[in-house]
Amino acid sequence: MADLDKEPEILDEDLEPLEVLDIDDEVVEEDEEGGSSFILGKSSPFMTSVFPVLFIDKKLKILCANEACENLFTGFFELAGNYFIDVFNRAFDLEDIRKMRETILDGSNGYSWKGEARIKSRNVTTVQTKVYIFPAELNYEEPAEFVVMFDDVTEENKRLLRSVFMSLLEASKLKDNDTGKHIVRVNYYAKRMSEELFRSKNPKYNRIDADFIDNIGFLASMHDVGKIGTPDDILNKEGPLSDWEWTVMREHTKNGAFILSTYPNPMAKEIALSHHERWDGAGYPYQLSGEMIPLAARITTIADVYDALRMERSYKPALSHEVAVQKMLEGKNSHFDPFLVDVFIEINKDFEKIHDKNKDES
Ligand SMILES: [Fe+2]
Ligand SMILES: [Fe+2]
Repeated sequence: MADLDKEPEILDEDLEPLEVLDIDDEVVEEDEEGGSSFILGKSSPFMTSVFPVLFIDKKLKILCANEACENLFTGFFELAGNYFIDVFNRAFDLEDIRKMRETILDGSNGYSWKGEARIKSRNVTTVQTKVYIFPAELNYEEPAEFVVMFDDVTEENKRLLRSVFMSLLEASKLKDNDTGKHIVRVNYYAKRMSEELFRSKNPKYNRIDADFIDNIGFLASMHDVGKIGTPDDILNKEGPLSDWEWTVMREHTKNGAFILSTYPNPMAKEIALSHHERWDGAGYPYQLSGEMIPLAARITTIADVYDALRMERSYKPALSHEVAVQKMLEGKNSHFDPFLVDVFIEINKDFEKIHDKNKDES
């Protein structure tokens, strides 16, 4: 898989300076005698294909892209007129780029290539695609132009991955006395708060991008998945827990991290492990403090505690929104990240709306 942190690397020192091509123009390739050998652009049947397709020449310059391709990469980059490698180099690993160039320039192993790409930007969630490269002409000896076809598998992969972890969550819900709607609400609050942090453009929250928002909106619900390993008599005990029962109860953070360690994004593990840590270092399991606690866990803590305050439990009544907000303010600097509490205060009415729209059925 591509290393997304790689710096762009220009591999072909012969690349010509960029020329911007108007994709509405037809692209005419001239042969040695000066005549047209073939025509791309609007005349190609691929231009109306539902599959995202773009055309590149032997210098890997993008000649044009069809509408499906422009739509797939909306918000990522300009396609036509740029070099394929410049546009997509972060999406492939170096070995793939080497093989692609070999395919197009040399053809000793055939003029076709298939692989995978992950295309990432701050404002749009990552696109995962299969990529096929093959000659643009059916009859060729040494093809001059190539079709690059993308097959967007983002949703398919995400659905598969998440369905596995949803099953785990469903299993843990059978044991936990929290209602199903609690986890739905926690996802919404965490997502809403992350969106606000993203919008704030505060450099402190640079790591929040479209993927972070999308992921926390699914993974915050997993915070207590480790309770699947907590004995029922402790989980459902009516009275206060004894010291050793608390010790067992606290293990749900580590168990959750263990269960979620196979999730490809470390955020899952961070949330499960650290959602009971406190800003002042008095939480568990590792007494982390301040920004040592992963940001996704700090956000989830605020979402989880606000919702717990609003819920009725055997040992306490449900609090009103106003009282819950007051309690959250009291936890600023001690329980909660003070900067996140400020953001919570700014958007507290949205928390109330999320709560009211997703009430538990009584
Ligand atoms: Fe928990
Ligand atoms: Fe919870």
